[in-house]
Amino acid sequence: MTVDLSAKIPNNVDLDSDPRLRRALEAWQPKYVDWWKEVGPVGYQTKEIYLRTAVDVGAKGWANFDYVRMPDYRWGIFLSDAAPDRRIGFGDVADDPVWTDVPGEHRAALRRLIVTQADTEPASVEQQRKLGAICPSQYDLRNLFQVNVEEGRHLWAMVYLLHRYFGRDGRDEGDELLQRRAGSPDKPRILATFNQPVEDWLDFFMFTMFTDRDGKFQLLSLAESAFDPLARSAQFMLTEEAHHLFVGETGIDRIVQRSAELSRNDPNGEAHSHGGIDLPVIQRYLNLWFSSCLDLFGGEVSSNAATYFAAGLKGRPNEAKFPDHVERDEVRLLEVADHDHLVMREVAARLAINEDVRDAYIRDCERAVARWNRTIENVGFRYKLRLPNRRFHRMIGEHAGHHFSPDGEPISPEVYARRVDEWLPTAADRVAVRALQTRPVTGAGEFASWIAPPQRGINGQPIDFTYVRFE
Ligand SMILES: [Fe+2]
Ligand SMILES: [Fe+2]
Repeated sequence: MTVDLSAKIPNNVDLDSDPRLRRALEAWQPKYVDWWKEVGPVGYQTKEIYLRTAVDVGAKGWANFDYVRMPDYRWGIFLSDAAPDRRIGFGDVADDPVWTDVPGEHRAALRRLIVTQADTEPASVEQQRKLGAICPSQYDLRNLFQVNVEEGRHLWAMVYLLHRYFGRDGRDEGDELLQRRAGSPDKPRILATFNQPVEDWLDFFMFTMFTDRDGKFQLLSLAESAFDPLARSAQFMLTEEAHHLFVGETGIDRIVQRSAELSRNDPNGEAHSHGGIDLPVIQRYLNLWFSSCLDLFGGEVSSNAATYFAAGLKGRPNEAKFPDHVERDEVRLLEVADHDHLVMREVAARLAINEDVRDAYIRDCERAVARWNRTIENVGFRYKLRLPNRRFHRMIGEHAGHHFSPDGEPISPEVYARRVDEWLPTAADRVAVRALQTRPVTGAGEFASWIAPPQRGINGQPIDFTYVRFE
């Protein structure tokens, strides 16, 4: 099915057949555009950017590249095609037909799941809004804006579900999604990581590597949902999300490459006096973002996750790969806090669902770190990046309120305070990174000193292609 891009709201959900719904979304649209102009990307709003727009959910048509001004971007509503006779894949309702509407008893829980996912989308746009002014290249500037407009589209995907299936409550939620603000003291975004500042491009690449990757695993879990419209929305969002993860993983890889090259040629093995970022600084940013993102998966022992799983609302990523999709009598051995210390305890498998998802996430992150370490090795420099232990620097779950080294060793609050500057970005680290990022680098094929060029351009274009028209 090809999408009518001249429609006020491009969509493949036959919006025309439901005039009430269409009018409600058309009333939300100008509020959305106001939000975009108010807290979306600073500057560049009148420039033509080489962006991809979804015009079809099929394998070929969903990535259509052209120059577009961001406020004119065709944000649309797209669901992946319905799978015929799809059955629920897990929980107490496994093998039942999927739901095309919201069952009354799950209304509140589904609304909460959708709102929580939706809230992260505009939050990330707000967090990244000032980065254009200090971009390392035109290629990267374009990627930033591609991520931003697609997060905007993900908000559209979720607001469609709220309007279509949750009536008045859903419309109210849609409005509130435009009212909360990342980092605001009065009306913050729902999840802590989405209130954290993203001040420089090392933050940005860490965010797209680790935080967007949390998004991938949440979407994979929602793509299993018994509520079929949510599953199909999540499936299509995942195709777009893949680019965000590419931006993060290759962005860090390119910084690491440049840092290793500069460090290799320096008598002290440091990059900073040559316009690069020192590898230990990259490691500290990594420790911060990875640990913060582990919290997004929720507590190790979670009755909410158990309820969602049992009811078929939210599964696990690639549920089909798990040996047991019901987990009624299974147990999992977990480390849990018992007064002052941690003990291993058997927990019902359904209560440990969050940990299953976190495991899959950590495996994916380990793969990326191995890739970065290969890059350092290929440059001929000796340094190894690593993920901190999952206990390190946690604010949610069994390890919150305790102190651990990045190796996962329990330590006293005093030792933690004395050593935290070795482990998390310091004020001096942030100053050093920001000193390298004071102006936009936008000349054709030009790159900032602290990052290597990518291996290839976007959509088969050359690296020195005009990704942003500045005239
Ligand atoms: Fe997203
Ligand atoms: Fe994303």
